Amino acid sequence: MLAPLKPSGPRNSWLAYAALYCDPLGYLTRAARKHGDAVHLKIGRKSDFLLNHPDLVRAALLDQENLRRCVNRPLRRVLGTGLLTCRSEQHGKQRALLQPMFTRERIVALGDIMVGQIAHWADRWRDGAIVDMAEEMTSLSISIIAKTLFNVDFSSKLPESRDALVTILQATRFKNLALTSKQIEKLSLPFHRRFARAAEKLDAEIRAMIAERRKDGCEGPDLLSTMVRLQKQSRGGVTEQNIRDQIVTFFSVGHETTATGLMWTCYLLSENPAVAAKLYREVDHVLSDRLPSGQDCERLRYTRMVFAESMRLYPPIWLMTRRAVRDTKINGFTIRSGSYVHLSPFVMHRDPRYFPEPERFDPERWTPEAVAARPKFSYFPFGGGSLQCIGESFAWMQGVLTIATLARRWQMRLVPGHRIELDPHITLRSRYGMPMKLERRN
Ligand code: HEM
Repeated sequence: MLAPLKPSGPRNSWLAYAALYCDPLGYLTRAARKHGDAVHLKIGRKSDFLLNHPDLVRAALLDQENLRRCVNRPLRRVLGTGLLTCRSEQHGKQRALLQPMFTRERIVALGDIMVGQIAHWADRWRDGAIVDMAEEMTSLSISIIAKTLFNVDFSSKLPESRDALVTILQATRFKNLALTSKQIEKLSLPFHRRFARAAEKLDAEIRAMIAERRKDGCEGPDLLSTMVRLQKQSRGGVTEQNIRDQIVTFFSVGHETTATGLMWTCYLLSENPAVAAKLYREVDHVLSDRLPSGQDCERLRYTRMVFAESMRLYPPIWLMTRRAVRDTKINGFTIRSGSYVHLSPFVMHRDPRYFPEPERFDPERWTPEAVAARPKFSYFPFGGGSLQCIGESFAWMQGVLTIATLARRWQMRLVPGHRIELDPHITLRSRYGMPMKLERRN
């Protein structure tokens, strides 16, 4: 256990905040290396903390009583009161309602549906073509979420519905004052009209999905059918608005995170040919000439290690924030009510105490022995405690099966000279996209 410590921090916190706003990843990394396991940012009477030690991360993630999740206001506005954004008193009930849809057996069964979607997607690819892997992985992930969780074929609705969803999500990025400020909203700028149109389009699409499911029968095990069934039977207090909020939540958080993780995996494989070669050997050996199934996920060990290592270097959710609702203590120091506590997987995953030569892409860090030798919360791409990602097993299944299905046939190379710069919004995007040349393997 960590010895009690007194957090230190930069002297001029206003300057620190300006730096944080302009370059959050660089600033947080430097602050952690300089001030250590707990960084204290003091602004007037308020204090923020950045925690950089696995024991402190664990303590913060497990203290749901005193520390509550913060979601930026634009995103809250779009998601309503689904699982990610509901009040903490509602959370346990919603989670209990949804958890049965994410059992191990169910995820394995969904794996087969995922592979169908991935193979169909890659059928459109042509040898020598250049595609933007950021866009490809986003559209593919939207289709996978739609088919697996709602039993809806979204590919027929693309591109308008996809564009509406993407417009809305882009609008929720955390620096977006136009959506955060009520004053600016009154001006009704073109941005607001575009946002309103996209929100209307998406809501209409979702209402139509719900109405159709009610009409056609809702016996299936998917999330949409289950919610509609509960509403019909007046169980669990489910309303039409609840269904809408849950669908938008799962659509939004379920696709962008996994798509981001997969985009960075494609990039890292392109930059590390020796790792890619080892991956191809595993895929060819396990699958011979067939497509993978949900059952294969466990045998594709190296593929999983590649995805884990990719999420270490580029964790799709790079920052989690909690707000203290009353005074609480972490490791002997007091976090006053109203303070914010920040946890950054990006900073922790690059800490050389747990990951020597942290910038090096090395899937061997994920052998069972190497994992057992590290503290659990040195790696937390899916969070932890009762707010931990409900879609974690789903994401591993999708990640491993996408990498394996694509690697069977395709090798991808970043277009030479393309500039890569991190773009930290809610997820860790690539500022200039990810154009890659497709080369057929066999
Ligand atoms: C690589 C992919 C993914 C990553 C890195 C990721 C990461 C996370 C993290 C870090 C949280 C917790 C945030 C916090 O503590 O404040 C979270 C929550 C959540 N995630 Fe994921 N996620 C991924 C994929 C998915 C998928 C595929 C789904 C849906 C199928 C999903 C649905 C959710 C939901 C609904 C929550 C809120 C859970 C709750 O509060 O009970 N996520 N995710």
